Amino acid sequence: MQINSFEAYQEAYKMSVDQPEQFWANIADKFYWRKKWDNVLSWNFSEPNIKWFEGGKLNITENCLDRHLEKNGDKPAIIWESNDPEKPSVTLTYKILHEQVCRFANVLKKNGVVKGDRICIYMPMVPELAVAVLACARIGAVHSVIFGGFSAKSIADRINDSACKLVLTADGSFRGNKQIQLKEVIDDALIGCPTVEKVIVLTHTRTPVSMLKGRDLWFEDEIKLVDTDCPAEEMDAEDMLFILYTSGSTGKPKGVVHTVGGYMVYAGYTFLNAFNYQPDEVFFCTADIGWITGHSYIVYGPLSQGATTLMFEGVPTYPDASRMWQIVEKHKVNILYTAPTAIRSLMSFGLDPLKGSNLSSLRVLGSVGEPINEEAWHWFDEHVGNSNCPIVDTWWQTETGGLMISPIAFVIPLKPACATLPLPGVQPILVDEQGNEIEGNGVNGNLCIKFPWPGMLRTTYGDHERCKQTYFSTYPNLYFTGDGCMRDEDGYYKITGRVDDVINVSGHRIGTAEVENAINMHAGVVESAVVGYPHEVKGQGIYAFVIFPNLHNEADLTKKDILQTVTRVIGAIAKPDKILFVTGLPKTRSGKIMRRILRKIAEGDTSNLGDISTLLDPGVVEEIIDKSKS
Ligand code: WT7
Repeated sequence: MQINSFEAYQEAYKMSVDQPEQFWANIADKFYWRKKWDNVLSWNFSEPNIKWFEGGKLNITENCLDRHLEKNGDKPAIIWESNDPEKPSVTLTYKILHEQVCRFANVLKKNGVVKGDRICIYMPMVPELAVAVLACARIGAVHSVIFGGFSAKSIADRINDSACKLVLTADGSFRGNKQIQLKEVIDDALIGCPTVEKVIVLTHTRTPVSMLKGRDLWFEDEIKLVDTDCPAEEMDAEDMLFILYTSGSTGKPKGVVHTVGGYMVYAGYTFLNAFNYQPDEVFFCTADIGWITGHSYIVYGPLSQGATTLMFEGVPTYPDASRMWQIVEKHKVNILYTAPTAIRSLMSFGLDPLKGSNLSSLRVLGSVGEPINEEAWHWFDEHVGNSNCPIVDTWWQTETGGLMISPIAFVIPLKPACATLPLPGVQPILVDEQGNEIEGNGVNGNLCIKFPWPGMLRTTYGDHERCKQTYFSTYPNLYFTGDGCMRDEDGYYKITGRVDDVINVSGHRIGTAEVENAINMHAGVVESAVVGYPHEVKGQGIYAFVIFPNLHNEADLTKKDILQTVTRVIGAIAKPDKILFVTGLPKTRSGKIMRRILRKIAEGDTSNLGDISTLLDPGVVEEIIDKSKS
């Protein structure tokens, strides 16, 4: 299953296009199926209707756990590193992880969870989070993991959208020198969530929490009441595995749905190939399991391949900027997969933090989440990789389930800050605004994918029409990624960033409309417009133009009120970096906000604003420019 030369890549790629069914059947064959599929693929992108490995029966946890027990039962599956460097790390072997997953699955069963039920998981980055995810999969419950930075309201919206029956949480979580009161946030969320029957609470920070009779249960009590025998539920390849909410350019977040068989095959295959994982290596992905990167490359991808995956509870700069490097040395990490924002943040501390740690175990580096700038790429290469480790700049999305355009370590010749070539099975195409294919090299366009791959989303939960509209309607018969992309002279792909109203803040996807809606909930706000602007560490920052007529000379305080409102409505991750109070917004005669102009102003580039003659009131532009400079 592992590609080891450029020729082998070309051959695999060619086969994946010429005989996609045979290609993916050969790969799927390397996994454990209780019953093989009847049909590899049926699809159309118009409804859309996509089915991989139809009729196949399996359970993903048998692939991630049971099948490794005989040979690798005592091999570390998960190594956990605490937020607090003084706390001992924890190692779960495959055998222990299997036991814990089965036990937890029995707790879920005991509390009435059955196949198909949706379970919300809002937990810290502790081993029990991975256990919880796998426990759901064990019994066929659908997990919906929510990142710890989201507010009660965001959680409630997500829980209600998919009618979750049970919530798994903890008292609190540690992140650097901060604590988040997870249970308190859940308590607030659940005021408006009638479908939730039970809440299982893990003790972690041991902060006082309220425990509601009949609803709230301690994890530690529940786990004592069950045994470790839990046969895996037999799932159809196209049964739902999980929902993960993500933001788009309009409206509320969408529940992206992934199914068992195709997702498993894709996460496992891409993990093994792009990172060139070798048996006994330690793989460290610094993402949070609350995002797709954590799902696919902390949990399912590595475990499906019997790998050792390292889970880190904290942040790279706590207690200081040497923490990541200490972890690499301590656990002899071989593959380090992180985000440009983390690299840029660590760069700003200079080279001293690197000096105390031996990084010689590193063999492969990876980057994900946003375009990486060349400066960060070279710093990562030279100072972390000792100019000796390939960097795989992996482009993909929540919707794609796994890596799409990415170097294969040691196989694809690299170019700095470039996602290089599509992985086998991925058929990218660049189109212009009208949807015409842009052929040849040295061209720019909107990135679409023209053929299905096993890890792709199947629907958006509860609203298939939305899936169709968002991804399959902009250009008929193509999956539209929302990204702009350049194909260079050598046919290499370089992602240039979103072409829709989505901004990428520290690798987190944030819809401008969502932030605007949150700001507009503040009592004094009449209207607002949000755009992204280049930010040295975060990649993009959030810039909000706000109409707020009655400021009463309290602009600074009002800004804080607005930040507080956004924190309440969405969560701290969506707080604007800059707020500018204005008296009007640039609008067309039909009332549409001209974001193009606001983007320019936010970038500080007002020399050439383009044609503003179609504006209803060109005067507002002048005012905004003046204010933005003062
Ligand atoms: C968006 C997807 C999937 C990983 C985490 C983010 C941007 C992701 C890259 C990269 C340039 C990238 C794109 C994409 N993105 N990786 N290597 N180079 N841009 O998942 O939250 O679903 O966001 O992140 O804009 O569309 P996500």
